[in-house]
Amino acid sequence: MQLIDGKQISEQLLGEIAQEVQDIISKGGRAPHLAAIIVGQDGASLTYVNNKVKSCERVGFKSTHVALPDTTTEAELLLEIKKINDNPDIDGLIVQLPLPKHLSADTVIQAIAPEKDVDGFHPINVGRMALSMPTYISATPNGVLELLKRYNIETAGKHCVVIGRSNIVGSPMSILMYQNSYPGNSTVTVCHSRTQNLSEITKTADILIVALGKPEFVTADMVKDGAVVIDVGIHRIADASKKSGFKLLGDVKFDEVSPKCAYITPVPGGVGLMTIASLLTNTLKAAKKEVYS
Ligand code: GUN
Repeated sequence: MQLIDGKQISEQLLGEIAQEVQDIISKGGRAPHLAAIIVGQDGASLTYVNNKVKSCERVGFKSTHVALPDTTTEAELLLEIKKINDNPDIDGLIVQLPLPKHLSADTVIQAIAPEKDVDGFHPINVGRMALSMPTYISATPNGVLELLKRYNIETAGKHCVVIGRSNIVGSPMSILMYQNSYPGNSTVTVCHSRTQNLSEITKTADILIVALGKPEFVTADMVKDGAVVIDVGIHRIADASKKSGFKLLGDVKFDEVSPKCAYITPVPGGVGLMTIASLLTNTLKAAKKEVYS
């Protein structure tokens, strides 16, 4: 069993991005600039956005952090988005999800200018992804692709089973894995809450990508010997023995599944760290006008 080290690969990626930023600046260009909007006080979301902003600083990006109260109206949020859309100094904009209940994520995502949508959530960018056109691939699926690539994991002709069909992970992940590229060219099965005989299907997976959002859902009996298991789940579980008061668990029961695997991503230290690196890669692409010229 080989552990897929998301920490090491994400550090490598951040190093590569920082080098490119230095090159841009040494040629008289300006630093890429990411803006992040967060609405409300959700603890996990605040941590994620703070980590995104910190990583921007590490690679030499400029960042703008807009924190709005959870009483923010849709009109107020749309106005903030418009200001950033219209600001030529800002290359990329993300609005952290989930939003408070009274705000529609669909409306908000569609208000972001597609050329600044470095999360790759806008319908235009999702459509471009589905058509294999240049686009911003959303951070988590892109992070998974990068891990498969940097570990030289063969994907062509393999049976890839994706558990979960969310807009953010399962759905784009499944499309990317069947596309004619590397990583890709897999035969893909998407499983979800209505799938029957789930473990019969997962047991046939050469590559199992788990993104359903249930702690330790995948157990050893659901996994084939020699499979590649990618765990996208991340759950904070109360644990008084930890200084933080919680421990992190994935969607896979790591201790019993890992001995059966050829490769597996740990939680933490796997896919999670890659998402920030992917977001920064997209922001660099936006600054270089690689997707929309
Ligand atoms: N919430 C969970 N994942 C993400 C992400 O990749 N981007 C944003 N904006 N919100 C999220």
